[in-house]
Amino acid sequence: MNNDQRFFDFLKERIGLDVTSVGTAIIERAVRQRVLAVPGRTTDDYWQSLQHSAQEQQALIEAVIVPETWFFRYPESFATLGRLASQRLAAIKHLRALRILSLPCSTGEEPYSIAMALFDAGLGPHQFKVDAMDVSPLSVDKARQARYGRNSFRGADLGFRERYFSAEEDGYYLDERIREQVRLQVGNLLDPALLVNEAPYDFVFCRNLLIYFDQPTQQQVFEVLKRLTHQDGVLFIGPAEGSLLGRLGMRSIGIPQSFAFSRQGAPEPQPLPTLLPSPLPIRQPPPRVAASPLQPRPFAASVTPIAPPRSSDAVTLLANIAALANGGKSAEARAACEEYLRNHAPSAQVFYWLGLLSDMAGNALEAQGFYRKALYLEPQHAEALVHLAALLASQGDVAGARRLQERAARSGRPAESERKR
Ligand SMILES: C[S@@+](CC[C@H](N)C(=O)[O-])C[C@H]1O[C@@H](n2cnc3c(N)ncnc32)[C@H](O)[C@@H]1O
Repeated sequence: MNNDQRFFDFLKERIGLDVTSVGTAIIERAVRQRVLAVPGRTTDDYWQSLQHSAQEQQALIEAVIVPETWFFRYPESFATLGRLASQRLAAIKHLRALRILSLPCSTGEEPYSIAMALFDAGLGPHQFKVDAMDVSPLSVDKARQARYGRNSFRGADLGFRERYFSAEEDGYYLDERIREQVRLQVGNLLDPALLVNEAPYDFVFCRNLLIYFDQPTQQQVFEVLKRLTHQDGVLFIGPAEGSLLGRLGMRSIGIPQSFAFSRQGAPEPQPLPTLLPSPLPIRQPPPRVAASPLQPRPFAASVTPIAPPRSSDAVTLLANIAALANGGKSAEARAACEEYLRNHAPSAQVFYWLGLLSDMAGNALEAQGFYRKALYLEPQHAEALVHLAALLASQGDVAGARRLQERAARSGRPAESERKR
């Protein structure tokens, strides 16, 4: 099976997944796995059974989704939610409970973080309810079990784990009082009947999904998200998804690193440029740097720079940078990057982090420079490629973005590195 368009089209239609966002290799591998699951079956046999079996369809979807998530991802957004929730309750004169939606919720870390953040902000259990949905029944089942391993806890501030979990030998179990606040369901953001009978939500979290859609699908989904977000409500998205929302007529509420948008006072939607690039697979940085396959290389005038072995000090520093950045401590993360560069050979990964930190701080020009340095050191650095592509696209350099995007898709690594291992 090579570049079998049938499967790409199927996944696009069913869950919106655009092949260029994750690269063909990921989808081809998933299809190959499913074909081989039944001895002797050919790709055409498999295609036939995919048409008729809901179970087969679900298995393929499970094989290609990216369930990467963790508690309090982008911590500032949860602090912002806590503040806004108290204001919203006052605005509605405490007459009803706040309604919050987390879609996609993956394995539950996001909706449960919402509930913990609201308790931390002083709300009582009767003052809010969280609806959480994901297209993956396996992920929703895991969310229901609410038992988590170390990979779900990243960043520097893990105080919430002491407050809301009990540690057992086989993982951390979330307290019942948090679980009771969250209603978990399987649901597809592309389903035209999605939540049609539900009143709009005060707060909607839709993070790190739109990046896997192409532009027409993103536009279709934004209409759904607008319908689901109350006129006075707030929509939280992923860091790489903001420029899309601006184009579609929503306005940032202006709180750095919260990635929060409102409908209030938003200008009329701008028509989309006709020559838009395909979707940009921007993702969060790899959480566990020690597991990263990326090796630092020195700047060198020589033709083939040789990568020096990474000292354990450098590895610790890189892990520290990742923890600080993932924990929302941008200034500290930047300082750690600078310390790294003072004491070690230049590293693509460190320049990538600096690019991301500049990007998140809104300094596009500086970010571009750092991403380019990362790519000079490591031309196939997947994260730097996709982030730089997103930046160029947002500045109207469609051709430049497309070139980088194609390079990233060819590398085939992005979605893989986000998969839970
Ligand atoms: C990277 S996770 C994001 C989880 C969480 N929102 C976060 O930011 O940490 C992406 C999730 O989107 C889900 N997903 C993919 N396509 C979907 C669709 N069409 N409708 C609902 N969920 C979908 C996947 O199953 C996966 O769990």
